[in-house]
Amino acid sequence: MKKIIIAIDGYSSCGKSTLARALAKKMHYVFIDSGAMYRAITLYLIQHKIKIHHEIEVANALKNVHLAFEFYPETEQNNMLLNGVNVEAEIRDMAVSAKVSEVAAIPSVRKFAVAQQQQMGKLRGIVMDGRDIGTTVFPQAELKIFVTADPAVRVERRFKELFEKNKNITIEEVKANLEMRDYIDTNRSESPLRKANESKELNNSHLSREEQLNIAYKWAMEKINA
Ligand code: DC
Repeated sequence: MKKIIIAIDGYSSCGKSTLARALAKKMHYVFIDSGAMYRAITLYLIQHKIKIHHEIEVANALKNVHLAFEFYPETEQNNMLLNGVNVEAEIRDMAVSAKVSEVAAIPSVRKFAVAQQQQMGKLRGIVMDGRDIGTTVFPQAELKIFVTADPAVRVERRFKELFEKNKNITIEEVKANLEMRDYIDTNRSESPLRKANESKELNNSHLSREEQLNIAYKWAMEKINA
């Protein structure tokens, strides 16, 4: 069967990764969470106390960053490896979330991540989620989905996820972080978040995971059989 590239973009905490992971599983495709790569780079810069506003320092630091994904069959999840170390848990911390949009706006960081993402798509049969996948990484993707959800639903979902790990987190903190990230992601000069013209919008505020998966799967099969 023909293998396609599926690009899934949208704002933070819209459920993009949940959809992308489930769709990849159903189609036996590779799933790549491109945000995890920006998060791992951010973690490296924090760990090494790199000044993120210093372009040259950041560009030099990137020479020491090696990113890879490792698939764990037991959980059916890809985990992010930073220089061979599994950082999947750390990259989801608030400390990384607070800085990641600023880091993802740095041109050398984007160039570094996008080149690796494009390499991963060479064999096709991939579902990648992020902010610029349909516009910059794979403008030739056969299926582009732009996921949206109402702001209150996004805050609630993200709060629940973070509260599991950290009982001190407040809903106000989560809301402020999401608003800040939306602002930076849509206003940066380098490949800002925007809906690609030809992408299909999927508002999942009132859809179950299964319902949204079925819609996306139907779209994918239409493209494959076209
Ligand atoms: O999807 P996420 O919340 O894990 O992404 C973390 C940050 O990385 C987000 O604030 C925007 C940035 N990002 C990006 O600029 N481009 C991508 N393709 C993916 C994520």
